[in-house]
Amino acid sequence: MSIRFHAAPFAGAAFFFVALVSAAPDGRPPAHATLVAAVRRIQNTCFATYPPALLKRLTGKEAVAVEVPSDPALQMKAFVEVDRREKGLFYPTSLDDVLDAFESETRPGLRLLDLGSGDGRVVFLAALLGADATGVEWEESLHRLALEARERLADLVPKKRAHLKAGDFLREDFSKYDLLFYFESGTFDAAAMFDKIRRELRPGARLLLAHGIRPPDGLEETAAYGVVRVYVRPESGAAP
Ligand SMILES: C[S@@+](CC[C@H](N)C(=O)[O-])C[C@H]1O[C@@H](n2cnc3c(N)ncnc32)[C@H](O)[C@@H]1O
Repeated sequence: MSIRFHAAPFAGAAFFFVALVSAAPDGRPPAHATLVAAVRRIQNTCFATYPPALLKRLTGKEAVAVEVPSDPALQMKAFVEVDRREKGLFYPTSLDDVLDAFESETRPGLRLLDLGSGDGRVVFLAALLGADATGVEWEESLHRLALEARERLADLVPKKRAHLKAGDFLREDFSKYDLLFYFESGTFDAAAMFDKIRRELRPGARLLLAHGIRPPDGLEETAAYGVVRVYVRPESGAAP
């Protein structure tokens, strides 16, 4: 691990902050306090890629207060709208809300798929924790923001473990993954997605469902961490 000082420009205010420790080259995850700071930087970096039109759609306003770009909690408060896209709704996850779940459920080398990866933040968090993380996003414009954020985070998030794909996640083979992540209501194809999860989730593989409205049929809850619930296929492994 190495500690570096890092200068980050933010809209409206440029300032320096002590930066973060990247994951060890062998994929060992950073310590919790380090991770909290890293999660802050990931969210601020993703936010900094948003063009004005996207910010307006998410906040309902022409501009945000100057302190918002450097404070993920204020960003979440400012996002009062969802951005309706072709295949679903875009709004980003608060990584602070899902950190416990990811720290507990992610291990180095584990293969994660973010179902509709938006600006890529969940992929970056999982990669930082040592996972081999893939995000699939249908919207080209969001996919490009994620690519931009990955570049800006290159000193923190190992690019070789943060795969970003443009396309339809329903075309992915879910059985290749150990962990699926889905932020509730992100897709209009939820029925098809849950069907595919029930058919393809391997025994031992898990679904992390953030802000779930109800437990998905045919899956069994194994753990809960705040807004995130963890599901597996039932013991028999049989698809319902
Ligand atoms: C609620 S956002 C979540 C973004 C990200 N996972 C996060 O938690 O910050 C859901 C995203 O899924 C995308 N999406 C919906 N259906 C999709 C599909 N079938 N294939 C790929 N992306 C999809 C949407 O465009 C949207 O960006």
